Amino acid sequence: MNKNILLELSLIGCNIKQNEPLSKHTTLCIGGNADYFVEIFNEQQLILLLKFIYKNKIKFYIIGGGSNILFSDEGFRGIIIKLCGDFCRYCIQENKIVCGSAVNLSFLSKITADKELSGLEYFVGIPGTVGGAIYGNAGTKNMSISSVIDKLEIVDFIGIKKILNKKDFNFEYRKSNLQNCVITKAFFVLKKTDKNDILKVILQETDKRRKTQPIGTKNAGCIFKNPKNDSAGRIIDSLNLKNYSIGDVKVSNIHANFIINENNGSARDMLNLIDFIKNEVKKKYGISLETEIKIIK
Ligand code: EPU
Repeated sequence: MNKNILLELSLIGCNIKQNEPLSKHTTLCIGGNADYFVEIFNEQQLILLLKFIYKNKIKFYIIGGGSNILFSDEGFRGIIIKLCGDFCRYCIQENKIVCGSAVNLSFLSKITADKELSGLEYFVGIPGTVGGAIYGNAGTKNMSISSVIDKLEIVDFIGIKKILNKKDFNFEYRKSNLQNCVITKAFFVLKKTDKNDILKVILQETDKRRKTQPIGTKNAGCIFKNPKNDSAGRIIDSLNLKNYSIGDVKVSNIHANFIINENNGSARDMLNLIDFIKNEVKKKYGISLETEIKIIK
């Protein structure tokens, strides 16, 4: 079977790495080896790959910027797919953007600001790709990415390409209905606005992030979703858990909803600390925190 997988993957024309450490592909720098780590360069390759995976019932996962994810120390027994090549292209015409899902979100935010287009400026500094951000409806308090999406191109897990219009997608806080598909392209409609107004927001957001988040550390962004009308960070902080550590991972001393891998942290340490925090919050406030990061076993 292993030989068949390798042969099929090479026929598709993708770039294949075997036993690839997932710690190299996540912002937490944690995760064991993936059996196969496959870089896909165009839609045709993606369709062929998904059809092959579907037919052979192979376990797979699509990784974006690796910024919101925790893989186990045992790694992944299957195929990890990373979109590259064509999926990193974008095109801006007047106030409309067509953007491959592997484009870096923060980069797109800066490029569109430069063209005096408003709508993505709140996303400056959010790590990860456009596809990952749409999948998890990333955002700030001011707005979520769903509010500027006009249309999406996806390939479903059977390998069929589809166009989704507004009526087809559904977004909630940090959640979408785009579960069983690969987002390949996003169509945004932005608003022509005075560049100074956009830059003001960008500066504000960058400054706020610099002051309130542990920039430059190995982390996965906020670990927990916010409970309604509250902040998970504020709640965890109120339990004096900043700096609390298990193994080589600890709660950030800057923002309590971030966990930092200090150096050699493991997924086991992360999961133990996540469980510990959840139990403490439940005991004290009766609130069940839900993880925002994806935990992949
Ligand atoms: N707070 C504390 N202690 C902390 C952290 C926060 O007291 O350790 C307080 C703050 O002082 C503030 C309130 O809690 O009064 C809210 O904090 P903040 O403005 O940092 O916002 P947040 O709700 O904790 C959310 C998003 C962030 C996003 C920021 C800024 C979630 C889970 N988090 O954080 O998104 O960057 O707003 O808009 O929705 C992410 O999703 O990965 C993420 C980092």
